[in-house]
Amino acid sequence: MPQSPFEGRIAAPAKVNLALHVVGRRDDGYHSLESLVVFAAGVADALSIGIAEADDLLVEGRFAQGVPTDGRNIVRKALLLARAEAACIGMTIPPLAIRLTKNLPHAAGIGGGSADAAALLRFLCADRPDLRKRLASGASRLGADVPMCLAGTPTLAHGVGDVLTPVAMSHMPAMVLVNPGRPVETPAIFKALRNRDNAPLPPLPAAGLSDPDVLFDWLDRARNDLQETAISIEPTIREACRTLNAHGARLARMSGSGATVFGLFDSGTAAGQCADTVRAARPDWWVAVS
Ligand code: C5P
Repeated sequence: MPQSPFEGRIAAPAKVNLALHVVGRRDDGYHSLESLVVFAAGVADALSIGIAEADDLLVEGRFAQGVPTDGRNIVRKALLLARAEAACIGMTIPPLAIRLTKNLPHAAGIGGGSADAAALLRFLCADRPDLRKRLASGASRLGADVPMCLAGTPTLAHGVGDVLTPVAMSHMPAMVLVNPGRPVETPAIFKALRNRDNAPLPPLPAAGLSDPDVLFDWLDRARNDLQETAISIEPTIREACRTLNAHGARLARMSGSGATVFGLFDSGTAAGQCADTVRAARPDWWVAVS
C-alpha cells in the first residue's frame, strides 16, 4: 500500500557555525550576524510522523528531559505555521502525531529546536514547491536559526541569520562535537557581549570552500565572536576547545552561542580516535562524530 505523504521519518541534523561574526545591533534588539553554517551528517534528532485523530507530540531520547510537549514546543509551532501556509494555497495538512527523539543536547548552540522545526517543515513541503517557498519566507517567524536549518546545506548567513547564500563545499572535514553538559541561554550571551561591531567575515574565495586547505586557511581568519563571552559565563567551553586541540583537532571552536564545541580533523580515523579518548576521559560530556 502506498504510504501517505504525511507519514515518515526525517532527521534533524545538528547545525554547526564554523564561523560567526557579530557585525552590528539592530533596533529590534537582535544582532546582525555573518556566519558560515554547515550540518553534521549523522548527528541528529529524529522525527517520526504519522496521521492521527488530533495533533500530538511525544518527546523521548537522551535529551528529552525538560523539553515541553505542549504549544511552547517549536515543533508544534512549526506544524501550525505549515498548516496555515498550506491553507493559503488550498492544501490541507491533516492532524499529525509526531515522535521526536532528542539525541542532541538543547540550549547547546547546534540548532536544537530550530533543527527539529526545520526538519518538520522540510518533510511537509517535500515535492510541494509552492509550500516550500512560503515556508522558506515564513520560517524566521519561528526563530532566527530556522531558515538556515531549513536550507540544510552549507550556507553563508547574514541579517539575523535569515538571509542565506549557498556555499560550495563538496568536502567537509571529519568533525567531533563535544558538549560539556551545561546549557547556555542564547539571550544571556548576546546581552553580555561587549563588542557588537566586529569586522565582517573574510571574503569567500571565488571557488568556494571545497578544498580543505582553502577552508582551513579561511577559517583561521574567521572567529566566533560569541566565544569569549560564552567562556566568561561557562568556562568549560575553553576546556572543551583545549581538549579537542590536545587530541589532534586542526581547529577547535564553539558553535553558535555554545556550549557545544566542534573540532575539525584531517581524517575520519583521527576524529574517531579523538572521540574515543575524550569519551573515556570525560564520560559526563556528550561526544559525537560526523
Ligand atoms: O530567534 P531566536 O528565538 O532563536 O533567538 C534567541 C535569542 O537570541 C533572541 O531572543 C536574541 O536575544 C538572540 N539573538 C540575537 N540576534 C540574532 C539571533 C538571536 O540577538 N541574530
